[in-house]
Amino acid sequence: MRTFEGVNEAVSFEKVTKKFGNTIAVNNVDLKINRGEIFGLIGPNGAGKSTIMKMISTLLTPTSGEVRVFGQDLYKNKQTLRRYISLVSDYSVLEEDLTPYENLKLFAAVADVENAEEKITEFLHNFDLDKYDRKLTKNLSSGNKQKLNIARALLKSPEILLLDEPTNAIDVESSRFIRKFVLNENITKGTTIIISSHYLWEVEQLATNVGIIVDGRIVIKDSIDKIYEKFDSKINIYELTFRKGDHPKVLERLKSLPDVISIKLVSEEKIIVETKNPYFSLDEVEVSQTKLRPTLEDIYSYIIEN
Ligand SMILES: Nc1ncnc2c1ncn2[C@@H]1O[C@H](COP(=O)(O)OP(=O)(O)OP(=O)(O)O)[C@@H](O)[C@H]1O
Ligand SMILES: [Mg+2]
Repeated sequence: MRTFEGVNEAVSFEKVTKKFGNTIAVNNVDLKINRGEIFGLIGPNGAGKSTIMKMISTLLTPTSGEVRVFGQDLYKNKQTLRRYISLVSDYSVLEEDLTPYENLKLFAAVADVENAEEKITEFLHNFDLDKYDRKLTKNLSSGNKQKLNIARALLKSPEILLLDEPTNAIDVESSRFIRKFVLNENITKGTTIIISSHYLWEVEQLATNVGIIVDGRIVIKDSIDKIYEKFDSKINIYELTFRKGDHPKVLERLKSLPDVISIKLVSEEKIIVETKNPYFSLDEVEVSQTKLRPTLEDIYSYIIEN
């Protein structure tokens, strides 16, 4: 049986503020994240993402407001609730002079993990780290350190997994592996996942719901589908196709239009253009145009710039 059976809400923030001296890192934030959700937290540097993650993991406490986990006051029930929450940020929590196995063994002991030996063998194998069983952690590549860090966080089978920029500076293969693993945890175990990333396509691939935070305030919070729906009509991106070789003519025309924000030459017969003009059309050149759905990155830029 799952813990807290019948409770639908994983994390909730009510008017949460966190100040560091005069800096307001998180400003009066309300947030609800349901169980089994993958919630993407995005925003510029210094917006407050890591501070939110740290408050959920109990590394920090809010200056004011209330945080609940599974419907219970997080800080009053810290000892109990902490067991269900794991944070992955940078890998500085690993012991550099231990092997991957020894690191996991140590964390398993600290977190009082059941069937630790079995789990460790399984994780080292699944994360393709068993071949490094004689290497010290300090001699692993960044990608493998991060995999080990994620394995560490998963050892206690958390109900809530906090991933703060998990694939930052990680190569393509390792990032793909991490994303696949995260999705699998969510699908097979119903793990609630909160992920922050500056790679918006990554959030697009993973998240069901997204929060955009700017200067400590959540400015948008919705399902990814609703966000697309809401901004589709506000962002005008078109694919223009025309006779092969007509690209100089089309480019010249586009450059003369004041509403055009960006132009991407795809080939000699195709251009993608973003414009502020919702009634955009080119009359002098023969082109056919199709409106494209904006990506999360297009929407994010639109919100940040407007
Ligand atoms: N321990 C601290 N002491 C003082 N100020 C802090 C501390 N931690 C964070 N801050 C400040 O709080 C604000 C939010 O920082 P936070 O690390 O949460 O941002 P972030 O959204 O995670 O940014 P990034 O994308 O760069 O990781 C920033 O102005 C930061 O300088
Ligand atoms: Mg951060």
